[in-house]
Amino acid sequence: MRFVIKGPNRLQGAIKVSGAKNAALPILAATLLCDGVSVIEGVPRLNDVDVMCEVMKPLGVECRWQNENILVDTTKIRLEEISEKLMRRMRASCLVLGPLLARFGHVKISQPGGCNIGSRPIDLHLKGLRALGAEITERSGYLIAKSNRLKGAEIHLDVPSVGATENLIMAAVFAEGTTVIRNAAKEPEIVDLQNFLNRAGGRIRGAGTPTIRIDEVKSLVGPKGHRVISDRIEAGTHIIAAALSGGDVVVQNVIPEHVEPLLAKLREAGVGIELHGDTVRIWREGGIKAVDIRTMPYPGFPTDLQAQMCVLLAVAEGTSVVTETVFENRFKHIPELRRMGVDIYIEGRTVVIRGVEKLSGAHVEAPDLRAGAALVLAGLIAENSTVVDNIEHIDRGYEALEEKYQTLGASIERVS
Ligand code: UD1
Repeated sequence: MRFVIKGPNRLQGAIKVSGAKNAALPILAATLLCDGVSVIEGVPRLNDVDVMCEVMKPLGVECRWQNENILVDTTKIRLEEISEKLMRRMRASCLVLGPLLARFGHVKISQPGGCNIGSRPIDLHLKGLRALGAEITERSGYLIAKSNRLKGAEIHLDVPSVGATENLIMAAVFAEGTTVIRNAAKEPEIVDLQNFLNRAGGRIRGAGTPTIRIDEVKSLVGPKGHRVISDRIEAGTHIIAAALSGGDVVVQNVIPEHVEPLLAKLREAGVGIELHGDTVRIWREGGIKAVDIRTMPYPGFPTDLQAQMCVLLAVAEGTSVVTETVFENRFKHIPELRRMGVDIYIEGRTVVIRGVEKLSGAHVEAPDLRAGAALVLAGLIAENSTVVDNIEHIDRGYEALEEKYQTLGASIERVS
């Protein structure tokens, strides 16, 4: 499937952000710890969400959509091996490791797959689980984890990994005594997971700070109505699209604090921004000024907006330097952007972008989720027609992206 975009487009109007994929996925995994039915509200209709439901299906867990909510019924949960095919479809499927180990004391999964943006090992997840008393063996692409009963421990993460922090919180919920995770990731999605688990009866404190404490509880009961936070990366993508197009756009259902690392950079680049409750209005009076970016764990500039920001800087006045510190190989958008007239080169973990006046349409391929979104943004402002192929990657993380941009007046069509 592909998008065909005719540009340049000046975006105008209002657009609503969906629930956060990266909050919904760990929360779905956390329902494995809960008895009965959990009701999760505001879940985005995305391929990755469907994959997580499919991963849980062989375990006897039933996920049912009800409008924008998912009801997860774990009444008939049982321990089963999760097929390699499912695990390989999405890296976040490894988030079932912690909860299954906590609930059954035994898990066998194949090494997870997902977006190819660096080596992305899960060694920190495993190190933390071992600290809680799990015995883990890795054999021919499979991970087998066992433990009689996990025991609370002090865990210090070498780097603040989002997935490892989430997996360990979930693993520690029933662990004997208290678990402390230090140098934990501080992303808002971790706070959302904590809130979900505490609603279910958990005793977790400190999410959003580098130290998280998890006190033992005996059981959790599926909460009836937890609304996932809005997606700060989707919001950021639309905000950048609006700034690029030079139109006047209101992005709705935003948690302004969560997009502040981006807004700070956009103000520096000369973009007009007005905050009102949960809306952000974006417009431009003049050109975009070159700025330097360094991706960092939250509350630094998010790596998941690096590719989209490269497109904005591609048409800025002057030269910008973008440094990727979170993932080692996250520049797959660059060769594609070059085909659209972007003056950009890579040097190690840094890219140098010299602003040009305009981009030109080309036939490009989405190499992964966020790089794909960046190519759509480039297509929106490029002259003539752009074809973005392989949009299955984009569908993993954006709900009906073309429909949202059509409502802002863009000429973008999905073609199969
Ligand atoms: C999550 C997000 C992803 C985002 C990333 C960083 C989800 C589903 N995905 O991914 O969109 O880009 O956070 O904000 O929430 N690392 C190790 N060993 C480990 C784990 C991670 O070395 O065991 C490294 C990774 O290779 C990477 C860095 O730590 O260089 C950060 O990764 P991590 O925070 O774990 O990212 P994810 O949870 O996979």
